[in-house]
Amino acid sequence: MPTITREQLAKFNELVLDKYDLFFPASKQVFLENRLCERLLIGGYGDYESYYNCLLEDCEEMQLLIEELTVNETRFFRNPSQFKALKENILPEMIEKRNREVVKSWGDATRPWKWGERHPLMHLRIWSAGCSTGEEAYSIAFTILDSLKFPRAWDIEITATDINQSVLDHARMAAYDNNSANEIGPDMLTRYTDTSEAGFVVKEFPARLVKFYDSNLKDLSAGPGIMKLRPVDGPGIELDASGYFDIIFCRNVMIYFDRTAQARLVNALYRCLKPGGFLFTGDSEPLHLFEHEFNVITEGDAVYYVKPS
Ligand SMILES: C[S@@+](CC[C@H](N)C(=O)[O-])C[C@H]1O[C@@H](n2cnc3c(N)ncnc32)[C@H](O)[C@@H]1O
Repeated sequence: MPTITREQLAKFNELVLDKYDLFFPASKQVFLENRLCERLLIGGYGDYESYYNCLLEDCEEMQLLIEELTVNETRFFRNPSQFKALKENILPEMIEKRNREVVKSWGDATRPWKWGERHPLMHLRIWSAGCSTGEEAYSIAFTILDSLKFPRAWDIEITATDINQSVLDHARMAAYDNNSANEIGPDMLTRYTDTSEAGFVVKEFPARLVKFYDSNLKDLSAGPGIMKLRPVDGPGIELDASGYFDIIFCRNVMIYFDRTAQARLVNALYRCLKPGGFLFTGDSEPLHLFEHEFNVITEGDAVYYVKPS
């Protein structure tokens, strides 16, 4: 087995930190070393110096390493109290407010709209940042559909992003095994999924609401606020995300970043929200350690954040 020096390990560490904000503290150095060794042997690179040089140029190998280094654990309706808050408090108020704005805008010549057409104000934009295999994004889709009387009258855009292309491939297939069925519950399962040989598949309409993209949070947070979205086919999209989203789920992602990158990301997420927009983070990612301008909301077990209007 090839041996890696402390200096070499530090160089790999810096590389993934620099490119993806991924941080490996002392307690995770053995994990990093084992994964590097695995990739080095599979790829037949011979020594760590050659492997490092290859990573600098070979995006495909970098992606294979990222697939080894990222933690992709997720499940449907993870942290149920946050989904309860979404369903019972956030969405009803947001939908009601938008309905009122629509009624107010009737007859407004600057917003021409005809009966039978989708009104331009009737949109909901949600982002699942670090979406892994898609369970979070589809849980959001099911919750939104349950909250709307006429979902097809709304423009619902759920943007789901990750840097790991193999989890994104899984997410786009929208197929899950029966172990996940319990997380959803029988009623919702019937409404929004079809049974398949291995388990179930998300039905066409909820699936169509979610668009999965390869996108690095570092590009957004370290840059001028532009999201670089790479779909599986077609050209990349550059989205000026300032004030774009109503709700962001960025859960269990920043725990893998260092403190500087976490603080930068919190700022970037704040900018991406509309005034009055909501942010959900993971249980172990409370924002009180950072300077921020969010208002904190606590409801039962759920903690989440709102950008002042
Ligand atoms: C533990 S999963 C969280 C999944 C889901 N949000 C949840 O809470 O169940 C973390 C995900 O973040 C992704 N990730 C890590 N660094 C990222 C980055 N720089 N940009 C985008 N996604 C990233 C990983 O690939 C992984 O799929």
